[in-house]
Amino acid sequence: MRLARRVAIVTGAGRGIGRAIALAFATEGAAVALAARTGPALASAAEQIRQAGGRALALPTDVASEQSIEALVRETLAAFARVDILVTAAGGASFSPVADAKTEDWDAMLRVNLRGAMLACRAVLPAMMAQRSGTIINVGSIASKRALPGAAAYSASKAGVVAFSRALAEELRGAGVRVGVLVPGAVDTPLWDGIANPPDRRAMLRAEDVAQAAVLMAALPEGASLEELTLLPAGGIL
Ligand SMILES: NC(=O)c1ccc[n+]([C@@H]2O[C@H](COP(=O)([O-])OP(=O)(O)OC[C@H]3O[C@@H](n4cnc5c(N)ncnc54)[C@H](OP(=O)(O)O)[C@@H]3O)[C@@H](O)[C@H]2O)c1
Repeated sequence: MRLARRVAIVTGAGRGIGRAIALAFATEGAAVALAARTGPALASAAEQIRQAGGRALALPTDVASEQSIEALVRETLAAFARVDILVTAAGGASFSPVADAKTEDWDAMLRVNLRGAMLACRAVLPAMMAQRSGTIINVGSIASKRALPGAAAYSASKAGVVAFSRALAEELRGAGVRVGVLVPGAVDTPLWDGIANPPDRRAMLRAEDVAQAAVLMAALPEGASLEELTLLPAGGIL
């Protein structure tokens, strides 16, 4: 039980990577607050954790809304009294060449992938700084490191997550709060369902693989900080 007595908030926990991380954290003994917009998906993930003997709270949340994120943290503290780990896995992707890009797609990806991560980090800081301990794991993407045609907006949002996380890590050095970015290559999740001509999904990582990397980052001894972890499918990035 590498996360016994810890309390974690996981955004994007209704499906895909966030759900797998929430389940893996609970298996390692953490109490988990699960956040995403769709209540039934969250409820089923929380129920799965409880059936296995874990502690879980389903808290419908829109990471685009400051009020919603403030309520998520408030309700987590009310239920579990502390917040030790935050994972920002809420996110979305749509792909098109810049020449055809829709401004609303750009705004949506920046709003959820980057601004949503910032809002969640900011909201947990008072509790983590008061505890003088905490681990923040922001979910980036290999798209921020390699040039992928058609992925300019998504890549920009994820490069923003990396730069934001680096600055935040510096701000929190000495405060006992560590900040890392988990940078996966392609992962077979429902994210790909809406994307035309996806790469071979059987060659992608599984969400459970990414969850193991998140457990590694969260369970390190307090004096160590894994600030960037790139996890790729063994056969290549996509
Ligand atoms: N799949 C990949 O190949 C891959 C690779 C690298 C990085 N990533 C990143 O990993 C993260 C998770 O991706 P995934 O593949 O697991 O996607 P997914 O299967 O589509 O799941 C995304 C999750 O985010 C939630 N979400 C979306 N918008 C939200 C909002 N405004 N507020 C709260 N929750 C929201 C969704 O729930 P609701 O719709 O119910 O809100 C869902 O639970 C994303 O940041 C993605 O960019 C994915």
